[in-house]
Amino acid sequence: MFNKFWLRKNRKDSSTLRDKIEEIKKMPVPNHVAIIMDGNGRWAKKRALPRIAGHHEGMKVVRKTTMLANKLGIKTLTLYAFSTENWKRPKNEVEYIMRLPEEFLGTFLPELVENNVQVKMMGYKNQLPVHTLHAIEKAIEETKHNNGLVLNFALNYGSRSEIVDAVKQVLNDCNNGILKETELDEKTFSSYMMTANFADPDLLIRTSGEIRLSNFMLWQLAYSELWFTDVLWPDFSEEHLLEAIETFQNRQRRFGGL
Ligand code: FPP
Repeated sequence: MFNKFWLRKNRKDSSTLRDKIEEIKKMPVPNHVAIIMDGNGRWAKKRALPRIAGHHEGMKVVRKTTMLANKLGIKTLTLYAFSTENWKRPKNEVEYIMRLPEEFLGTFLPELVENNVQVKMMGYKNQLPVHTLHAIEKAIEETKHNNGLVLNFALNYGSRSEIVDAVKQVLNDCNNGILKETELDEKTFSSYMMTANFADPDLLIRTSGEIRLSNFMLWQLAYSELWFTDVLWPDFSEEHLLEAIETFQNRQRRFGGL
């Protein structure tokens, strides 16, 4: 009796989700969605669990979000997984987060390959533990011929450093005659950023109720629509992503015009 009820309810839930997805797909979806996945620690604390339990739960949400983004036809999904400032956290937490790409890709890489997802990474690779970098590079290699959703992990990423490094590279190229100062405009400058091959995000989502950018894609978010929610990242569901996209679809983007 209970099982029948559960089955009926679950079928109804998934058909509601399918309907919502179809509805959303009738209007243009954002090409590039960037997410600041925040609130893992608080999620764990509320359950008297160690903070790392929140990160582990957050990893599962990465999978669901990726699959739905792919289904919706979003071109790029950038996820802020670790910032250049996150090294200040306790050693055990940093070590745990640095193990997550291995666990995630160890489990889900075949599914990503099968679903035509391309894995990419932006951030400072040099400071990453070898095992983390190895897992990411393996995934990048194995998905490089896919042409579906780009799943871009921002790992050891910091926007101000990225901008400073781009400026240094521009100066270097000017000094070496590779670039003329007169050729430098916004488009050219963008080509010096870690996001050189991506369009700017159309939509930025931040979970957990914090209303700030935390050194994330400061140059690239200039004209993005921002969507904040109090929901903690491990509780972020497919419905929440659809809600964010629906809100985006109902906003008017003017890019400074009228
Ligand atoms: C911020 O929440 C979250 C992080 C710094 C880590 C995010 C990592 C994941 C969601 C998993 C990534 C998965 C892969 C596959 C790379 P917080 O710890 O600052 O939360 P709090 O503000 O509640 O303390």
